[in-house]
Amino acid sequence: MIQIAPSMLAADFLHLEKDVKLVNEYADIFHLDIMDGTFVPNISYGFPVVEAISSIAVKPLDVHLMIVNPEKYVERFAKVGASMISFHLNATEDPAAVLRDIRSLGVKAGLVINPDIPVESLYPYLKDADFILLMSVFAGFGGQKFIEDTYMRIRTLREEIARQGLDLPIEVDGGVGPANAKALIEAGAEILVAGSAVFKAEDPGAVIAAMRG
Ligand code: DX5
Ligand code: ZN
Repeated sequence: MIQIAPSMLAADFLHLEKDVKLVNEYADIFHLDIMDGTFVPNISYGFPVVEAISSIAVKPLDVHLMIVNPEKYVERFAKVGASMISFHLNATEDPAAVLRDIRSLGVKAGLVINPDIPVESLYPYLKDADFILLMSVFAGFGGQKFIEDTYMRIRTLREEIARQGLDLPIEVDGGVGPANAKALIEAGAEILVAGSAVFKAEDPGAVIAAMRG
């Protein structure tokens, strides 16, 4: 099943309610980017904003942590409404333990890597994860250009997931929109995150529909 996840980083923060409602019926998931200014050179938003979105979103919240020591905060993100929480492989000392922590909260656990980290480094953790997020730009900012290497990385990871007899979706994040959605789906991605492509468009609902192919 293909799922489209608008990234609220590209929403209008003065009118968040309007933007949540604009995509509520079209989106499958809300993608929320949490940046701490240390793991990535940018700061986004935190618990109160996630909680506010949660109060009106009718679709699950997917919290993408770009923070050091994610284990310190997973419980609080679960409390403010996250249904999915992902963190970067190199942001913690014991990724398997953090995946277990997230699952123990009744939340789907995801592992993320930036484009310069080999997909092979994920292999020991696949069995402990509910989804994998492959960055198709370097985490930290919206509106960047999609990195073409991502197609090969999705294919390689898909093969390994099958080899291990697992069934977990691959999410792709960064520079994604109607122009590359079809090729990403063909390569094996199942969750497509799109910020600028959705919220900078005249008709966000139509963009989401177009991305489904
Ligand atoms: C980047 C974030 C993305 C970002 C995507 O660090 O993880 O989720 O919002 O934005 P676009 O779709 O504009 O590249
Ligand atoms: Zn993200």
